[in-house]
Amino acid sequence: MSRLKVAIIGCGRMGTTIDDEVKDHPFLGRCLPYSHAACYAATPETEMVACSDVVADKVEQTRRRYGIPRGYTDYREMVEKERPDIVSVTTRPGNHAEITVYAAEHGVRGIYCEKPLCCSMQEADTMLEACRRHGVKFNYGTNRRYTPCHVLIRQLVQDGEIGELRTVITFGAGSAQWSLTHASDLMLYMAGDPEVEHVQGMTSAEEADFADNRIDKDPSVLMGYVKFKNGVVGQLVACPGWDLEVVGTKGKLRTLNDQGSILFLRNVGKANLQRQVEPPPYPYESGGVSCIRDLIEAIRTGRETKGNIALACRSQEIILGWVESHRLGGQRVPLPMTNRSLHVGTF
Ligand SMILES: NC(=O)c1ccc[n+]([C@@H]2O[C@H](COP(=O)([O-])OP(=O)(O)OC[C@H]3O[C@@H](n4cnc5c(N)ncnc54)[C@H](O)[C@@H]3O)[C@@H](O)[C@H]2O)c1
Repeated sequence: MSRLKVAIIGCGRMGTTIDDEVKDHPFLGRCLPYSHAACYAATPETEMVACSDVVADKVEQTRRRYGIPRGYTDYREMVEKERPDIVSVTTRPGNHAEITVYAAEHGVRGIYCEKPLCCSMQEADTMLEACRRHGVKFNYGTNRRYTPCHVLIRQLVQDGEIGELRTVITFGAGSAQWSLTHASDLMLYMAGDPEVEHVQGMTSAEEADFADNRIDKDPSVLMGYVKFKNGVVGQLVACPGWDLEVVGTKGKLRTLNDQGSILFLRNVGKANLQRQVEPPPYPYESGGVSCIRDLIEAIRTGRETKGNIALACRSQEIILGWVESHRLGGQRVPLPMTNRSLHVGTF
Protein backbone atom coordinates (compact mmCIF):
# COMPACT_ATOMS: atom_id res chain seq x y z
CA MET A 1 0.00 0.00 0.00
CA SER A 2 1.45 3.42 -0.94
CA ARG A 3 2.48 5.80 1.81
CA LEU A 4 0.24 8.78 2.61
CA LYS A 5 1.77 12.17 1.75
CA VAL A 6 1.96 14.53 4.73
CA ALA A 7 2.52 18.31 4.88
CA ILE A 8 3.15 20.21 8.13
CA ILE A 9 1.73 23.72 8.61
CA GLY A 10 3.58 25.44 11.48
CA CYS A 11 7.21 24.51 12.18
CA GLY A 12 7.23 25.56 15.85
CA ARG A 13 7.34 23.59 19.10
CA MET A 14 4.43 21.19 18.65
CA GLY A 15 5.03 20.91 14.93
CA THR A 16 8.68 19.96 15.17
CA THR A 17 10.80 20.59 18.29
CA ILE A 18 8.86 19.89 21.52
CA ASP A 19 10.53 16.46 21.84
CA ASP A 20 13.69 18.30 22.99
CA GLU A 21 11.71 19.96 25.82
CA VAL A 22 9.86 16.92 27.13
CA LYS A 23 12.57 14.26 26.86
CA ASP A 24 13.40 14.53 30.60
CA HIS A 25 9.75 14.63 31.78
CA PRO A 26 9.10 11.55 33.96
CA PHE A 27 6.03 10.49 31.95
CA LEU A 28 6.10 12.30 28.59
CA GLY A 29 9.79 11.59 28.16
CA ARG A 30 8.92 7.87 28.15
CA CYS A 31 6.20 8.40 25.52
CA LEU A 32 8.23 9.97 22.72
CA PRO A 33 7.90 10.90 19.90
CA TYR A 34 5.74 13.93 20.73
CA SER A 35 5.89 16.57 17.98
CA HIS A 36 3.86 15.94 14.84
CA ALA A 37 6.94 15.70 12.61
CA ALA A 38 8.68 13.24 14.95
CA CYS A 39 5.50 11.15 15.12
CA TYR A 40 5.19 10.97 11.31
CA ALA A 41 8.89 10.07 11.12
CA ALA A 42 8.05 7.10 13.38
CA THR A 43 5.05 6.06 11.25
CA PRO A 44 6.15 4.08 8.16
CA GLU A 45 2.71 4.42 6.52
CA THR A 46 3.38 8.17 6.05
CA GLU A 47 5.93 10.26 4.19
CA MET A 48 6.52 13.96 4.98
CA VAL A 49 6.74 15.66 1.57
CA ALA A 50 6.71 19.33 2.63
CA CYS A 51 6.49 21.75 5.54
CA SER A 52 5.56 25.41 5.84
CA ASP A 53 5.97 28.30 8.24
CA VAL A 54 5.75 32.05 7.81
CA VAL A 55 9.32 32.17 9.19
CA ALA A 56 11.66 30.87 6.46
CA ASP A 57 14.43 29.85 8.92
CA LYS A 58 12.05 27.52 10.75
CA VAL A 59 11.12 25.88 7.44
CA GLU A 60 14.78 25.24 6.67
CA GLN A 61 15.56 23.92 10.15
CA THR A 62 12.61 21.55 9.94
CA ARG A 63 13.55 20.33 6.48
CA ARG A 64 17.09 19.58 7.65
CA ARG A 65 16.03 17.93 10.91
CA TYR A 66 13.51 15.57 9.33
CA GLY A 67 14.86 15.26 5.77
CA ILE A 68 11.71 16.82 4.27
CA PRO A 69 12.22 17.50 0.54
CA ARG A 70 10.37 20.81 0.08
CA GLY A 71 9.53 23.88 2.19
CA TYR A 72 7.16 26.84 1.79
CA THR A 73 6.36 30.11 3.54
CA ASP A 74 2.79 30.06 2.18
CA TYR A 75 0.73 27.05 3.27
CA ARG A 76 -1.82 27.62 0.49
CA GLU A 77 0.84 27.31 -2.18
CA MET A 78 2.12 24.16 -0.45
CA VAL A 79 -1.32 22.52 -0.37
CA GLU A 80 -1.98 23.37 -4.02
CA LYS A 81 1.41 22.17 -5.31
CA GLU A 82 1.98 19.16 -3.06
CA ARG A 83 -1.57 17.78 -2.96
CA PRO A 84 -0.93 16.12 0.46
CA ASP A 85 -3.17 13.35 1.75
CA ILE A 86 -2.77 14.65 5.32
CA VAL A 87 -1.98 18.09 6.73
CA SER A 88 -0.92 18.76 10.29
CA VAL A 89 -2.12 22.11 11.62
CA THR A 90 0.43 23.02 14.28
CA THR A 91 0.08 26.80 14.29
CA ARG A 92 -1.47 28.60 17.27
CA PRO A 93 -5.29 28.46 17.35
CA GLY A 94 -5.95 31.91 15.81
CA ASN A 95 -5.74 30.47 12.28
CA HIS A 96 -6.75 26.80 12.84
CA ALA A 97 -10.22 27.42 11.38
CA GLU A 98 -8.93 29.26 8.30
CA ILE A 99 -6.30 26.58 7.58
CA THR A 100 -8.64 23.63 8.23
CA VAL A 101 -11.33 25.02 5.94
CA TYR A 102 -8.78 25.78 3.22
CA ALA A 103 -7.23 22.31 3.42
CA ALA A 104 -10.66 20.61 3.40
CA GLU A 105 -11.67 22.60 0.33
CA HIS A 106 -8.42 21.77 -1.49
CA GLY A 107 -8.39 18.01 -1.59
CA VAL A 108 -6.74 16.76 1.62
CA ARG A 109 -8.12 13.49 2.99
CA GLY A 110 -7.10 13.91 6.62
CA ILE A 111 -6.30 16.72 9.05
CA TYR A 112 -4.43 16.40 12.36
CA CYS A 113 -5.08 19.70 14.12
CA GLU A 114 -3.64 20.86 17.41
CA LYS A 115 -5.70 21.99 20.37
CA PRO A 116 -7.25 24.46 21.09
CA LEU A 117 -9.49 23.81 18.11
CA CYS A 118 -10.15 27.52 17.52
CA CYS A 119 -11.23 30.72 19.31
CA SER A 120 -15.06 30.71 18.96
CA MET A 121 -17.88 28.29 18.25
CA GLN A 122 -18.57 30.23 15.07
CA GLU A 123 -15.10 29.17 13.87
CA ALA A 124 -15.69 25.60 15.09
CA ASP A 125 -18.92 25.45 13.08
CA THR A 126 -17.05 26.34 9.87
CA MET A 127 -14.49 23.59 10.54
CA LEU A 128 -17.21 20.99 11.17
CA GLU A 129 -19.10 22.03 8.07
CA ALA A 130 -16.00 21.97 5.81
CA CYS A 131 -14.86 18.53 7.03
CA ARG A 132 -18.33 17.06 6.64
CA ARG A 133 -18.99 18.60 3.23
CA HIS A 134 -15.69 17.38 1.79
CA GLY A 135 -15.59 14.03 3.59
CA VAL A 136 -12.31 14.88 5.34
CA LYS A 137 -11.22 12.80 8.34
CA PHE A 138 -10.06 14.86 11.30
CA ASN A 139 -8.10 13.98 14.40
CA TYR A 140 -7.46 16.26 17.34
CA GLY A 141 -4.26 17.19 19.19
CA THR A 142 -5.66 16.41 22.62
CA ASN A 143 -3.18 13.56 22.71
CA ARG A 144 -4.06 12.48 26.27
CA ARG A 145 -7.07 10.71 24.69
CA TYR A 146 -4.57 8.32 23.05
CA THR A 147 -2.07 7.64 25.83
CA PRO A 148 -2.14 3.99 27.01
CA CYS A 149 -2.84 4.87 30.67
CA HIS A 150 -5.99 6.81 29.78
CA VAL A 151 -7.04 4.24 27.18
CA LEU A 152 -6.75 1.53 29.86
CA ILE A 153 -8.79 3.53 32.39
CA ARG A 154 -11.54 4.09 29.86
CA GLN A 155 -11.55 0.37 29.05
CA LEU A 156 -11.81 -0.54 32.75
CA VAL A 157 -14.73 1.89 33.10
CA GLN A 158 -16.45 0.41 30.04
CA ASP A 159 -15.88 -3.11 31.40
CA GLY A 160 -17.82 -2.12 34.54
CA GLU A 161 -14.80 -2.42 36.86
CA ILE A 162 -15.94 0.56 38.96
CA GLY A 163 -19.67 -0.04 38.52
CA GLU A 164 -21.71 2.70 36.93
CA LEU A 165 -19.62 5.77 36.10
CA ARG A 166 -20.83 8.86 37.94
CA THR A 167 -18.08 11.49 37.97
CA VAL A 168 -14.93 12.38 36.04
CA ILE A 169 -12.56 14.72 37.84
CA THR A 170 -9.61 16.31 36.10
CA PHE A 171 -6.86 17.97 38.09
CA GLY A 172 -4.74 20.61 36.41
CA ALA A 173 -3.91 24.25 36.24
CA GLY A 174 -3.55 26.67 33.42
CA SER A 175 -5.44 28.76 30.96
CA ALA A 176 -8.79 27.81 29.48
CA GLN A 177 -7.74 27.49 25.88
CA TRP A 178 -4.03 26.66 25.89
CA SER A 179 -4.01 24.11 28.72
CA LEU A 180 -7.47 23.04 29.77
CA THR A 181 -8.64 21.91 26.34
CA HIS A 182 -6.83 18.71 27.41
CA ALA A 183 -8.99 18.57 30.58
CA SER A 184 -12.34 19.07 28.84
CA ASP A 185 -11.44 16.49 26.22
CA LEU A 186 -10.44 13.94 28.87
CA MET A 187 -13.74 14.47 30.72
CA LEU A 188 -15.59 13.87 27.46
CA TYR A 189 -13.50 10.80 26.60
CA MET A 190 -13.87 9.18 30.01
CA ALA A 191 -17.61 9.90 30.09
CA GLY A 192 -17.95 7.92 26.83
CA ASP A 193 -18.05 10.93 24.44
CA PRO A 194 -21.71 11.82 25.19
CA GLU A 195 -23.48 15.05 24.29
CA VAL A 196 -23.40 17.81 26.90
CA GLU A 197 -26.51 19.06 28.68
CA HIS A 198 -25.01 22.16 30.30
CA VAL A 199 -21.80 23.62 31.73
CA GLN A 200 -20.98 26.08 34.47
CA GLY A 201 -17.70 27.85 35.13
CA MET A 202 -15.74 30.51 36.89
CA THR A 203 -12.59 32.02 35.40
CA SER A 204 -10.01 34.70 36.16
CA ALA A 205 -11.53 37.09 33.58
CA GLU A 206 -13.02 40.40 34.66
CA GLU A 207 -16.16 42.06 33.36
CA ALA A 208 -14.17 44.70 31.50
CA ASP A 209 -12.33 41.97 29.57
CA PHE A 210 -15.47 41.06 27.62
CA ALA A 211 -15.84 44.16 25.43
CA ASP A 212 -17.37 43.41 22.00
CA ASN A 213 -18.06 39.77 22.97
CA ARG A 214 -14.35 39.17 22.64
CA ILE A 215 -11.89 38.46 25.41
CA ASP A 216 -8.34 39.22 24.36
CA LYS A 217 -6.76 36.94 26.92
CA ASP A 218 -6.81 33.27 27.78
CA PRO A 219 -8.17 33.23 31.36
CA SER A 220 -7.48 30.60 34.01
CA VAL A 221 -10.43 28.39 34.92
CA LEU A 222 -11.06 28.40 38.68
CA MET A 223 -14.10 26.10 38.60
CA GLY A 224 -15.46 24.02 35.73
CA TYR A 225 -18.54 21.77 35.80
CA VAL A 226 -20.08 19.68 33.02
CA LYS A 227 -23.37 17.76 33.06
CA PHE A 228 -23.33 15.19 30.27
CA LYS A 229 -26.57 13.92 28.75
CA ASN A 230 -25.80 10.36 29.90
CA GLY A 231 -25.90 11.60 33.51
CA VAL A 232 -22.13 11.61 34.10
CA VAL A 233 -20.75 14.76 35.73
CA GLY A 234 -17.35 16.31 34.95
CA GLN A 235 -15.47 18.53 37.37
CA LEU A 236 -12.24 20.45 37.01
CA VAL A 237 -10.08 20.89 40.10
CA ALA A 238 -7.68 23.76 39.46
CA CYS A 239 -4.33 22.78 40.99
CA PRO A 240 -0.74 22.15 39.94
CA GLY A 241 -0.04 18.73 38.41
CA TRP A 242 -2.09 16.84 35.80
CA ASP A 243 -4.22 13.95 37.05
CA LEU A 244 -7.54 12.27 36.52
CA GLU A 245 -10.05 10.41 38.71
CA VAL A 246 -13.10 8.45 37.58
CA VAL A 247 -15.65 7.58 40.25
CA GLY A 248 -18.26 4.87 39.89
CA THR A 249 -20.83 3.14 42.06
CA LYS A 250 -18.39 0.32 42.94
CA GLY A 251 -15.01 2.04 43.08
CA LYS A 252 -12.65 4.58 41.58
CA LEU A 253 -9.54 4.85 39.44
CA ARG A 254 -7.04 7.67 39.79
CA THR A 255 -3.86 8.48 37.96
CA LEU A 256 -0.89 9.48 40.09
CA ASN A 257 1.88 11.82 38.95
CA ASP A 258 0.33 12.35 35.50
CA GLN A 259 -0.13 8.75 34.36
CA GLY A 260 2.96 7.56 36.24
CA SER A 261 0.75 4.91 37.91
CA ILE A 262 -2.92 4.09 38.60
CA LEU A 263 -4.57 3.86 42.02
CA PHE A 264 -7.50 1.42 41.77
CA LEU A 265 -9.94 1.25 44.70
CA ARG A 266 -13.01 -1.01 44.97
CA ASN A 267 -15.84 -0.55 47.46
CA VAL A 268 -16.01 -3.26 50.12
CA GLY A 269 -19.45 -4.54 51.17
CA LYS A 270 -21.94 -1.98 52.37
CA ALA A 271 -19.48 -0.09 54.53
CA ASN A 272 -17.86 3.07 53.31
CA LEU A 273 -14.56 1.26 52.89
CA GLN A 274 -12.40 0.67 49.85
CA ARG A 275 -9.84 -1.99 49.04
CA GLN A 276 -6.84 -1.36 46.80
CA VAL A 277 -6.67 -3.53 43.67
CA GLU A 278 -3.69 -4.04 41.37
CA PRO A 279 -4.51 -2.40 37.99
CA PRO A 280 -3.44 -4.15 34.75
CA PRO A 281 -0.05 -2.96 33.43
CA TYR A 282 0.09 -0.51 30.53
CA PRO A 283 2.89 0.35 28.09
CA TYR A 284 4.49 3.78 27.65
CA GLU A 285 3.67 4.68 24.05
CA SER A 286 3.35 7.88 22.06
CA GLY A 287 -0.16 9.35 22.03
CA GLY A 288 0.73 11.26 18.85
CA VAL A 289 1.67 8.12 16.93
CA SER A 290 -1.58 6.42 18.04
CA CYS A 291 -3.52 9.47 16.90
CA ILE A 292 -1.86 9.35 13.46
CA ARG A 293 -2.46 5.59 13.13
CA ASP A 294 -6.12 6.18 13.99
CA LEU A 295 -6.33 8.92 11.33
CA ILE A 296 -4.71 6.69 8.69
CA GLU A 297 -7.13 3.85 9.41
CA ALA A 298 -10.07 6.26 9.24
CA ILE A 299 -8.88 7.56 5.84
CA ARG A 300 -8.44 4.01 4.52
CA THR A 301 -11.64 2.49 5.87
CA GLY A 302 -14.02 5.47 5.93
CA ARG A 303 -14.77 5.12 9.64
CA GLU A 304 -14.60 8.11 12.00
CA THR A 305 -11.50 8.85 14.10
CA LYS A 306 -11.46 8.68 17.90
CA GLY A 307 -10.97 12.45 18.08
CA ASN A 308 -13.19 13.40 15.16
CA ILE A 309 -14.31 16.93 14.34
CA ALA A 310 -17.69 16.60 16.08
CA LEU A 311 -15.98 15.51 19.33
CA ALA A 312 -13.33 18.22 18.98
CA CYS A 313 -16.13 20.80 18.65
CA ARG A 314 -17.84 19.30 21.72
CA SER A 315 -14.80 19.52 23.98
CA GLN A 316 -14.01 23.01 22.66
CA GLU A 317 -17.55 24.08 23.48
CA ILE A 318 -17.12 22.96 27.09
CA ILE A 319 -14.20 25.39 27.41
CA LEU A 320 -15.95 28.30 25.72
CA GLY A 321 -19.08 27.45 27.73
CA TRP A 322 -17.16 27.84 31.00
CA VAL A 323 -15.99 31.28 29.88
CA GLU A 324 -19.51 32.20 28.77
CA SER A 325 -20.93 31.03 32.12
CA HIS A 326 -18.45 33.28 33.91
CA ARG A 327 -19.43 36.19 31.62
CA LEU A 328 -23.05 35.63 32.63
CA GLY A 329 -22.21 35.75 36.34
CA GLY A 330 -21.94 31.99 36.86
CA GLN A 331 -25.16 30.94 35.11
CA ARG A 332 -25.64 27.46 33.67
CA VAL A 333 -24.97 27.49 29.94
CA PRO A 334 -26.96 24.85 28.01
CA LEU A 335 -25.13 23.46 24.98
CA PRO A 336 -25.19 24.17 22.10
CA MET A 337 -24.26 27.69 23.24
CA THR A 338 -26.32 30.46 21.74
CA ASN A 339 -23.45 32.97 21.94
CA ARG A 340 -21.43 31.35 19.15
CA SER A 341 -19.41 34.45 18.33
CA LEU A 342 -17.82 34.74 21.81
CA HIS A 343 -14.12 34.91 20.92
CA VAL A 344 -11.55 33.80 23.51
CA GLY A 345 -7.77 34.27 23.23
CA THR A 346 -5.06 36.29 21.52
CA PHE A 347 -3.14 33.81 19.46
N1 LIG B 1 -0.93 18.66 22.35
C1 LIG B 1 0.04 19.14 23.10
O1 LIG B 1 0.50 18.51 24.03
C2 LIG B 1 0.59 20.51 22.77
C3 LIG B 1 1.82 20.94 23.31
C4 LIG B 1 2.29 22.21 22.94
C5 LIG B 1 1.55 23.01 22.09
N2 LIG B 1 0.35 22.57 21.61
C6 LIG B 1 -0.47 23.39 20.71
O2 LIG B 1 0.17 23.49 19.45
C7 LIG B 1 -0.11 24.76 18.84
C8 LIG B 1 1.21 25.45 18.51
O3 LIG B 1 1.88 25.74 19.71
P1 LIG B 1 3.46 25.91 19.75
O4 LIG B 1 3.85 25.99 21.16
O5 LIG B 1 4.10 24.91 18.86
O6 LIG B 1 3.60 27.36 19.07
P2 LIG B 1 4.80 27.96 18.24
O7 LIG B 1 4.64 29.42 18.24
O8 LIG B 1 6.10 27.38 18.73
O9 LIG B 1 4.58 27.39 16.76
C9 LIG B 1 3.60 27.87 15.89
C10 LIG B 1 4.26 28.08 14.53
O10 LIG B 1 3.25 28.39 13.58
C11 LIG B 1 3.84 29.31 12.66
N3 LIG B 1 2.78 29.96 11.87
C12 LIG B 1 1.94 30.97 12.24
N4 LIG B 1 1.11 31.27 11.23
C13 LIG B 1 1.41 30.42 10.20
C14 LIG B 1 0.90 30.24 8.89
N5 LIG B 1 -0.10 30.99 8.40
N6 LIG B 1 1.44 29.28 8.11
C15 LIG B 1 2.46 28.50 8.57
N7 LIG B 1 2.99 28.64 9.82
C16 LIG B 1 2.48 29.59 10.61
C17 LIG B 1 4.64 30.24 13.55
O11 LIG B 1 5.59 31.02 12.83
C18 LIG B 1 5.27 29.24 14.51
O12 LIG B 1 6.53 28.78 14.04
C19 LIG B 1 -0.94 25.54 19.87
O13 LIG B 1 -2.27 25.50 19.48
C20 LIG B 1 -0.67 24.81 21.19
O14 LIG B 1 -1.71 24.90 22.12
C21 LIG B 1 -0.12 21.33 21.92
